[in-house]
Amino acid sequence: MLTQAAIDAFTALTGTAPEGVWVGPGRINLIGEHTDYNDGYVLPFALPQAAYVAASARADGRWRFRSVDLDDTVELGQAELVPGSPGWHSYLAGVVWALQQAGHEVGGADLVLTSDVPLGAGLSSSAAIECATLAALVDLYGLTIDPVDRAKLARVAENAYVGAPTGLLDQAASTLCTADHALFLDCRTLETRQVPLAVTDAGLEILVIDTRTRHSHVDGEYAARRASCEKAAAILGVPALRDVTDLDAALAQLPALEARRVRHIVTEDQRVLDAMDALAADDYAELGRLMTASHASMRDDYEITERSVDLAVETALGAGALGARMTGGGFGGCVLALVHADRVEATAEAVRAAFAEAGLGEPVTFLGRPSAGARRLV
Ligand code: GLA
Repeated sequence: MLTQAAIDAFTALTGTAPEGVWVGPGRINLIGEHTDYNDGYVLPFALPQAAYVAASARADGRWRFRSVDLDDTVELGQAELVPGSPGWHSYLAGVVWALQQAGHEVGGADLVLTSDVPLGAGLSSSAAIECATLAALVDLYGLTIDPVDRAKLARVAENAYVGAPTGLLDQAASTLCTADHALFLDCRTLETRQVPLAVTDAGLEILVIDTRTRHSHVDGEYAARRASCEKAAAILGVPALRDVTDLDAALAQLPALEARRVRHIVTEDQRVLDAMDALAADDYAELGRLMTASHASMRDDYEITERSVDLAVETALGAGALGARMTGGGFGGCVLALVHADRVEATAEAVRAAFAEAGLGEPVTFLGRPSAGARRLV
């Protein structure tokens, strides 16, 4: 449906059909939060929800970006591709800029975007756009860029052009994930592994609860967490918190706030490795326990949760979930709960009732099914 919407909007804009349609998915991080910029481990999977880009190259070196969802069109010449320029189109323009900075010849295009990744929900709506755009430009201009380098280029767009100081998690997930698998990524070595994630074979589902709470200061809080980690690594004399081997000794050297941040990162890295073992052993009770421990660590030590996500986690656990945690950058957004398939509706209903009782807006729920990464559709 969105493929056709993108094609129709492209044709309305340009008068001709697009050369193709490319897609970049949103993601859920199963476990491993805020570990990416500490050279640690993450374990995301791609969602069926994705950004769709219908596109054709242009011969005149100009760039036209259209958002179907916002009903807005922006046209830029080469000189107007400037980092820091605000607006929705910066996620597309940033990819053009990142490719050019890396020496790739991309000379102009019309790109029409539509997406069903909820905005600001911690599901990587921005990386979805970047990775779909990158896939489109790689094909339109016949570029040869291996998948890990594509993820890195999309991250350059986010960090240097859009200006958000994120790690590699989102762009790696959107680019490298495959259907029915989670992606293990070592953010230092960039080693990846496709990890079978067949929870349905075990009679389970990953229920995603979008609390629809969006934190307006999320960027500042994110940068503050990152700065605390860098300060702690400097005090400890290690290149990154990944390198902390004796947690107790490290905690003894740090001020209270940095100690809490470090305890989250170091224990979270270990939980990712433990989750890999649990998945290999089909031990979903253990996976659930690790997810819930991850949430407690984000709540108490990293201090990035808020009332609605804590309530969603507590309610899902009370309704029998094997485990539950917030996913993404924090301060609202989505919770994922590992639940028995026959408890999906009851769990969703319990969360809706708890939110109504607490005076919160109605959450949106859906099943998180591990899907394919960025690719050409048409
Ligand atoms: C956001 C960032 C990622 C990662 C997560 C937290 O999604 O874009 O790089 O840091 O937050 O795990």
